[in-house]
Amino acid sequence: MKKLLALTLACLMVVALFAACGEKPAADNSLQAVLDKGELVIGTSPDFPPFENLNDDGSITGIEVDILAKICEKLGVTLKIEQMDFDSVLPGVQAGKFDLAVSGITATEERKQNALFTNPYCLANIAIVVKEGSDVKGKADLADKTVSLQTGTTAELYCNANNFKNNAFQANADAQIALTSGKVDAWIIDDLTAKDMVAAYNAEHDDKLVILDEAMTTEPYGFATKLGNDALIGEINTILASLLADGTIKDLFAKYEADFVDPATAA
Ligand code: ARG
Repeated sequence: MKKLLALTLACLMVVALFAACGEKPAADNSLQAVLDKGELVIGTSPDFPPFENLNDDGSITGIEVDILAKICEKLGVTLKIEQMDFDSVLPGVQAGKFDLAVSGITATEERKQNALFTNPYCLANIAIVVKEGSDVKGKADLADKTVSLQTGTTAELYCNANNFKNNAFQANADAQIALTSGKVDAWIIDDLTAKDMVAAYNAEHDDKLVILDEAMTTEPYGFATKLGNDALIGEINTILASLLADGTIKDLFAKYEADFVDPATAA
C-alpha cells in the first residue's frame, strides 16, 4: 500500500513538473524572425529633423534613418519605414505592428514599463522657443502663458507636470505655426529639432524665432520594441555599442550639423 502511495506521489510530481514546463513563456524568436523575413520594419513620425524628416520627394532621411541603415546592413536585412503620427509610434510597436519604434524617442522609466528600449545612443534637451523680443526669457516666465507642443511627447508630460497651459498638436509643424501665428507664447520642443526647424523658418521670414538658453530637461534617446523581444534588442544594442565606439554615430550627427552628446558622458 505504501509503495502504491509513493508511486502515485511520484507520478503526480512528474505531471506537476511537465505542467510547470508548459507554462514557460514561448521562446524569444524576435531576432530570428527579422532575419528570416529579411527586413526590419520601423515605425516613425518623420517630422523631427535632423532625426527623421519627410522630404518633398517623399523620401525620409535623418540621423536615425542612417543609424538604422547601418544596423540593417550589419543584420543583413533591408530597412522598411512605416510612417505615422508620434503618438501612434509607441502603441504600435507595443502591439507588435512593426519591429522597432524610431522617433527621437526619450527612454523614460514610465515608457520602459510598456516597451523594451535599447541603450541610449545620445542625449538631448527639451528647449523653449519664442518669438524674438518675447518677454518669456526662461521657464519661470511660463507660469501664466500658453505653450504649444506635440501630442504624446515628453514635452507634453513635462508641461502637464508643471501645470503649463498647453495646446497639443499631432504634427510638430503645427506646434511651430501656433507660435509663429501668435496663438501661443512659446513652443516646447527637443533642442536639436528646434535648431533645425527654427533655422529653416528664420531663413525665410523676417520675424525671427529664438531658442532660449535655459533647457527644461536632459533626456536619453533610444529605439524601442515590444516587451519580450530581448533577442532583437540585445543584437541591436551590440551593434549600437560598436557604432558609438568607432565614431560612426558622432560622424552622422556631424553630417546633419547637429551637436552630439554621448550618453556615456552623463553617467
Ligand atoms: N523626445 C520626445 C519624446 O520622446 C519627442 C519625440 C518626438 N519625435 C518625433 N518624431 N516627432 O517624447
